[in-house]
Amino acid sequence: MTSRSAPAIRLAPSILAADFANLGAEIAAVTRGGADQVHVDVMDGHFVPNITIGVAVVKSLRKVTRLPLDVHLMIEDPDRYIEPFIEAGANMVSVHVEVLPHLHRTISQIKTLGAMAGVVLNPSTPVSSIEEIAAEVDFVLVMSVNPGFGGQVFIPNSLKKVGAVRALLNRAGNSAPIEVDGGVDLDTVESVVRAGAEWLVAGNAIFGTPDAERAARAIKAKAEAALPQ
Ligand code: DX5
Ligand code: ZN
Repeated sequence: MTSRSAPAIRLAPSILAADFANLGAEIAAVTRGGADQVHVDVMDGHFVPNITIGVAVVKSLRKVTRLPLDVHLMIEDPDRYIEPFIEAGANMVSVHVEVLPHLHRTISQIKTLGAMAGVVLNPSTPVSSIEEIAAEVDFVLVMSVNPGFGGQVFIPNSLKKVGAVRALLNRAGNSAPIEVDGGVDLDTVESVVRAGAEWLVAGNAIFGTPDAERAARAIKAKAEAALPQ
């Protein structure tokens, strides 16, 4: 069993819920509120019903923030777009196991291009689907809603799943963090952290409030207080 460094919270506000006409100001606000990375939801209208952000937006975001850009690809053919997103400034790239028959190759490609590689599990996708890749990933993203839209209700079974992913990573000798995405707010954040998540995506709970800076600070403080001592 390898030793694991102490868990550390990273707050990843999802700009999907932000004002797209004011992304620079929205990101500046959450940065003051303690955001650690910016979560960018890329959707293609095929893998998920919604269409959102592309490479050009990531390129523009790169110019307005020094925070790492955490790009979540909810698209049918991620292999085609990994390189352009990393060239545009993505620091983390996460891909859904549901669309990738050659997941090992995809993960290797992300790393070779210099970004952190994450795998994403939809709510109905079993933890066992990442068993053979568990030693290789830089992080695992557990979806706690069905991908496609912000502002959905947290699926309680996700907590058990986070625990199972943590156990799998530990067995593989990998201390990679677990990211949780969907329905994370002041009511759910403590249980998510206690379950073993360290990277927390929050969209509506931050940008859906009148004061994004304050909301980010409050969620991060609650998350940090919930970390195991
Ligand atoms: C959902 C996206 C999420 C979304 C989270 O498909 O992957 O990142 O923006 O939004 P909230 O925090 O509002 O559930
Ligand atoms: Zn996301």
